Amino acid sequence: MRVLTTGGAGYIGSHTVLALVEAGHEPVILDNFDNSSPEAVRRVSELAGREIELIEADLLDAAAVDRIMAQGNFDAVIHFAGLKAVGESVAQPLKYYRTNLVSTMNLLDAMQAHGVRTLVFSSSATVYGTAGVSVCTEDVSLGTTNPYGATKLFIEQILDDVAVSDPSWHIAKLRYFNPVGAHSSGRIGEDPRDIPNNLMPYVSQVAVGRREKLSVFGGDYPTADGTGVRDFIHVVDLAAGHVAALEALPAHPGARAWNLGTGEGNSVLEVVRAFERASGREIPYEIVDRRPGDVAELVADPSRARLELHWKAERGLEDVARDGWRWQSQNPLGYPDEDTEESA
Ligand code: NAD
Ligand code: WQD
Repeated sequence: MRVLTTGGAGYIGSHTVLALVEAGHEPVILDNFDNSSPEAVRRVSELAGREIELIEADLLDAAAVDRIMAQGNFDAVIHFAGLKAVGESVAQPLKYYRTNLVSTMNLLDAMQAHGVRTLVFSSSATVYGTAGVSVCTEDVSLGTTNPYGATKLFIEQILDDVAVSDPSWHIAKLRYFNPVGAHSSGRIGEDPRDIPNNLMPYVSQVAVGRREKLSVFGGDYPTADGTGVRDFIHVVDLAAGHVAALEALPAHPGARAWNLGTGEGNSVLEVVRAFERASGREIPYEIVDRRPGDVAELVADPSRARLELHWKAERGLEDVARDGWRWQSQNPLGYPDEDTEESA
């Protein structure tokens, strides 16, 4: 399939573009490089063994999106593009609502106008933020505690309504748990622009010496070691989940949600220990207050994806730490800046 991949230069998108090529599909990246680097696209091309088509555009530009869709001859769209920092979304809600909602509306309008009816959307376990259960099936009650999460909930609702209005749509709402790790080559990985908000990039930057120590947010949760428990899914498994969803969608008209997680929980301290083993370095940490809005434990029930998408995660925490460390140690400052960049 020829697949328009919005946000395809980003962390999850770049790994998925590679998985699409490896599965015999033809991805086309659309990105404005707001939170990514053209170097990621060059490296994906290098790993794929062929040039990946790239369109530099902003999804907020409705006319450009319409033109791209009219000319692209796409069979499907995978929609990763958007803003994703929870804390920033509390500080700048309008930026988040505008970017995430208007981008998606422009994309849906263009798909509707030009007869593209297959969509895979990046949702998030953040939609289970108020469910009050630690292991989530897709059917638990949805709710969220921040504007970023609200954009995911609203978009899911919009997708449901669009699918009801026209039965020719096939839409996958993929709810990712905690994506981590990197491609085993060490060539592509997560490259946060500022101080990382998420656990895994912070731990790897401490290991590589970019940050002094990790603050562990809460040591008194009702979990085995008192620290938060999450379902950490290797980004290469997550990428494979998108290929599985794309290939299963013809059998699933309408809009349907699937959890992409491992079904296993690991604590913050287990992540620290795994990274210490992988890097051979000590990771200094200090237990501090809980972070507002965090829950003790959030783990996927991934049974629906196993049954209906024929997909399951193959990699565990040791693989995550090994591959995450390879990426971080080979690229201590992330992708090189445009002007200092090595030739790929
Ligand atoms: P990312 O920031 O690495 O990738 C997003 C990409 O979208 C970037 O390349 C960015 O430049 C691009 N982009 C942003 N706004 C754009 C616009 N207006 N027009 C064109 N391109 C634009 O993020 P990621 O971690 O790869 O996440 C991808 C998707 O998955 C996002 O929708 C995110 O909300 C969702 N998600 C991420 C996580 C996570 O922890 N990483 C968890 C659950 C869901
Ligand atoms: C994991 C655990 C923290 C940083 C977020 C979003 C969610 C989804 C995935 C996009 C928690 C602890 C963290 C640190 C720590 N993203 N922690 N010190 O909060 O589960 O999920 O990313 O959709 O929407 O909310 O991930 O990596 O931030 O935290 O102790 O410096 O690590 O308290 O227990 P989270 P995370």
